[in-house]
Amino acid sequence: LIEAVGAREILDSRGNPTVEVEVLLDDGTVQRAAVPSGASTGAFEAYELRDDDKSRYSGKGVLKAVAAVVDELGPAIEGVEASEQRIIDSILIETDGTENKSRTGANAILGVSLAVAKAAADSADLPLFRYLGGPNAHLLPVPALNVINGGAHADTGVDIQEFFLVPLGAETFAEAMRWGTETYHVLKGELKAGGFATGLGDEGGFAPDLPSNRGALDFLLAAIEKAGYKPGTDIAVGLDVAATEFYSDGAYHFEGKDWSAAELTKYYEELLANYPLVTIEDALSEDDWDGWKALTDDIGSKVQLVGDDLFVTNPARLADGIKRGVANSLLVKVNQIGTLSETLDAVGLATRSGYTSMMSHRSGETEDTFIADLAVAVNCGQIKTGAPARSERIAKYNQLLRIEEELGDAAEFAGRSAYPRFTG
Ligand code: PGA
Ligand code: ZN
Repeated sequence: LIEAVGAREILDSRGNPTVEVEVLLDDGTVQRAAVPSGASTGAFEAYELRDDDKSRYSGKGVLKAVAAVVDELGPAIEGVEASEQRIIDSILIETDGTENKSRTGANAILGVSLAVAKAAADSADLPLFRYLGGPNAHLLPVPALNVINGGAHADTGVDIQEFFLVPLGAETFAEAMRWGTETYHVLKGELKAGGFATGLGDEGGFAPDLPSNRGALDFLLAAIEKAGYKPGTDIAVGLDVAATEFYSDGAYHFEGKDWSAAELTKYYEELLANYPLVTIEDALSEDDWDGWKALTDDIGSKVQLVGDDLFVTNPARLADGIKRGVANSLLVKVNQIGTLSETLDAVGLATRSGYTSMMSHRSGETEDTFIADLAVAVNCGQIKTGAPARSERIAKYNQLLRIEEELGDAAEFAGRSAYPRFTG
């Protein structure tokens, strides 16, 4: 039974305040969870409550959310069995009482939801992935390593936010990490040799001021080959365009010009013809349903089209997208929706509808590794949690290395099967 719930304000990887929640059970179990935070957030995400008190952290403090945990959310679930996750999450949602979790804050609610799951797992003496996923949790995800950071995550002219190395030809998760990390180091040398800066963006990727977005892909391909791997066969590439960020007044402001959705779609078609691209996330804006539909009809059979800002891990928005035949993959961010149960609902709906799912961190992260276990628990076969650099990113990858070891012979690396539409 849940005996007490506490919370505190801690700092995330950008030095911004965030919520950490601690749950105590009556058997003495104590577990904590920390909440991530995005920069290129979707308009339809659950509400992140910040204090707006300009005298602290430029208004970004989270003392109100902390107080909501201590005064309201915690007391509302005291005495409930910690393994009753769905009941607990619905109590949290009801206690908040708003559509988008804006009164107590999705950051407060998520911290409680995740800490409860960790405490229940610990109390049952199970690893988190096993507790969450049951006896069939066994699939290690292909990492999408974000090695070049642009868009809102870097102060450069590169419009596309994330460029991934996707080592899908590896035999194991550990091998995939080695291939991707070796290539990351080679990429650094190549950028340096080309006279570009090798400082890191928010997610640990390099943030060079490249002249074009294609130029970033060229660097990735060159690095893959120089590291001794075959582009497409061993290591493919992927993009998070985060197009909502450069969409305004009915046009996409990309590479110094105004583009229509149809023009951008043509651009993606050309990329597909020239690069081993397995996944494109947020290729168009979160509001541009017509553009998304045409895009999906055009290239959705050949490449994974991931909805991040488009779906915001929201089962209702995802259901709408599925009905319209828009995109073919769900990005999974626990803090976009705010409870574990709703996250699991979104993944379940995606899977039943033939959509793939990619587990995801946020650009503002902590040392919390919940999403690593969650990726294995739901067997989604894909995760993006940054470059192989910076400990808040590496923490998740390291946790997956541990899980792979713990699973032993039962572990299976998703490999190419994670990308059923990829033919390159
Ligand atoms: P965010 O970026 O966490 O800043 O929203 C990640 C993404 O867009 O996938
Ligand atoms: Zn995204």
